[in-house]
Order: sequence, then structure tokens, then C-alpha cells
Amino acid sequence: MKKIFALALAAAMSLSLVACGGGGNTSTPSTSGSQPAGSNPAVSTPADPNGDGTVLVGFAQVGHESDWRTASTKSAQDVFSAANGYELSFVDCDNDPAKQLEAVRSFIQQGMDYIIIDPIVATGWDTVLTECDEAGIPVIIIDRTVDDSDKYVAWVGSDFKVEGLACGEWLKAFAADKGIAEINALVIEGSVGASATIGRTDGFKEIADREGWTILDSQSGDFTEAGGQEVMESFCQSYKGQFNVVICQNDNEAAGAMTAMDNAGITYGVGGDVILVSFDANKPYVQMVCDGKINANFECNPMAAPTVDEIIKTLQAGGTPEKEVYVSEHWFAAEDNVTSITVNGEQQEVIHATQEVVDGRPY
Ligand code: AHR
Repeated sequence: MKKIFALALAAAMSLSLVACGGGGNTSTPSTSGSQPAGSNPAVSTPADPNGDGTVLVGFAQVGHESDWRTASTKSAQDVFSAANGYELSFVDCDNDPAKQLEAVRSFIQQGMDYIIIDPIVATGWDTVLTECDEAGIPVIIIDRTVDDSDKYVAWVGSDFKVEGLACGEWLKAFAADKGIAEINALVIEGSVGASATIGRTDGFKEIADREGWTILDSQSGDFTEAGGQEVMESFCQSYKGQFNVVICQNDNEAAGAMTAMDNAGITYGVGGDVILVSFDANKPYVQMVCDGKINANFECNPMAAPTVDEIIKTLQAGGTPEKEVYVSEHWFAAEDNVTSITVNGEQQEVIHATQEVVDGRPY
């Protein structure tokens, strides 16, 4: 009932509303198979807010910039399926913050039961989250953080600063073991304004400043392979012969950086001119760690959706979920000379990326 009313309202009010991202906006048709025979579809219960057996979820996804993002989208589409009692409206916001706000407002007008947002940027959220709150629609944030509003029921994601700190602590231990006295690093950052970029940049810089390393340059590659290649091509020209570390803030940027270094005749990885580090640890890139092309890779876990499903079930049952849930993450290295690091006073394992480890990766 809520859905029919909301759809009519949305149609009447906003024919001009355009959902995010041309090709990525898909909506799974509703199924009525879980509606018990003879029950009143207008009756809403906490376990079935629409009275028709489905839970309406709108997901405003960042875009499709990386392998990580593909894994995140697949996880959400698998979990929020018709078979699991959901109707998912998925919007690919194509890395455009304005489109993402528009998508959320469209979800409000459509009368979603829950809205999931992976915020492209960390700020600019309070107004639209207030609108969700006033519409009585719980918002669950995943992956990246919202830093200027607390008007959401839960967040599930990564500690990006810890990822950056872990990268720095590993590099310190690795360099000490190899007798490398000087670190001259180039950083290919992620998208500007994304909390993933901010946290990884701050974490690595904190260790670099503490250890007296030189960060020669730090520029955005927008979390894409093309962006990573473009930035690395310019780095290769500007800093030829001056750098011995390249930090890529995601795997796709690392792929682009490798192409640029190949073209420039610069070797990287185990035994190379340059220590190459990546973030995300998608399976093909843990394979590259195993193969010695990437020296270390710091995981960012894209599998938030199963936890969001649990949060929704808690809310449906009238409970209060945890406000913040951190996903578990692991660090991988090509060599076994550093087996653990201490991050924020906590000892953490560095996993030697053997073929067995790669084969066991879930994504
Ligand atoms: O927010 C997570 C980051 O976004 C991942 O590191 C990156 O691959 C993605 O695009």
C-alpha cells in the first residue's frame, strides 16, 4: 500500500526527476510469492512493512570505477534479492555527488523502506539525511563515511586511516629488513573528498612524517585504472630516477601505474626498482602480490551487504542495531620478511600471499 501510494506520488510530483547514471539504474520487479493466501495486503507488520511480503531497499551506489566497486554491487544484488524478500532499486551514481543526492531524494519519493548509501564524498549530507529522517526512512551507510551528519541508523565499512597506517608500518618494517635507508614515495590518491582517500592519505602521511620519509608528490587517480596510468605517466616524467616507492590507493590505479612504469622501463615489485603498494586486495591483485608484481596489498572489504541485511532484520524486529560496524580486513605481502606489524598499539598479521591464500580469496 505504502509503495503504490508512493509510486503514484512520485509519478505525479516528479516526472522531471532523473535517476543517477544512465545505464546503471535497475530495479528488480517485486514478487508476491511470500504473501500468505487470504491475508490483507494493506496490513503492515514490523516484519513486512508493505504488507506484500517484500522489503523495499534503495541503494545509491558510488559508481562502477573499480573492481572493488563491482564486488560491492554484486554483493548487494545477491543479498537484496527477491528470493531473500527484498525489492532492490539500485542506482549507479557514476561518481557524481549531485546525482547521488538526487537518487536519495527519488528513493524518498518512491517510499523505500530503507535507503542504503555509499557516500561518494564525506560531506554535504545533513540536509538530505534530515529529509530521510522526516520521511521515517532509516538510512544505512556503507563503506565510506558521512562526516557532517549523524542522521543515519548504522554504518558498515572500513577504517581507512588504519589501512593507511598499516601500509606505512609495513613499509617501515620492510625497508628496515631490506636495508633501504631512504624512502622517496609517490602517492596516487583515490577520488577527491572520499573518506577512503582521506583516511588512507592521512594514515600513510602520519607514518611518513614520523619516519622522516619524503612524499615527492600525491595526486588523485580517481580510483580508476585510466586515472592511475595518467598520474603515473606524469610522475615518471617529473620524478625520473628520484622515487623508490609508489603507493596506489586502489588496485585499479595500481594496474594503470604498472602500465605506465612498464612503458617507462621502470621495474617494480619483488626485486624491482620500485616498491609497489596497493589497497583493496581484490583476488586478481592478491594474485599479483603472489606473483611478485605488487609488494603489498591492504584489503578493503566490499562485503557489507550481509551485515546490512542483519541490520535491517534487527530494525524489522524492533531492535536497535550497532551504530558502527567495522568489516574485517587483512594485509598481504609478496615476501615473508614482515609477518606482523603494530598499528595503533595492536599487533596485526601480515599474510604471505601464497597461491593457497589467493585461491581462498572470496572476491
Ligand atoms: O570506498 C572504497 C574504495 O572505492 C575502494 O578502495 C576503491 O576501489 C573504490 O573505488
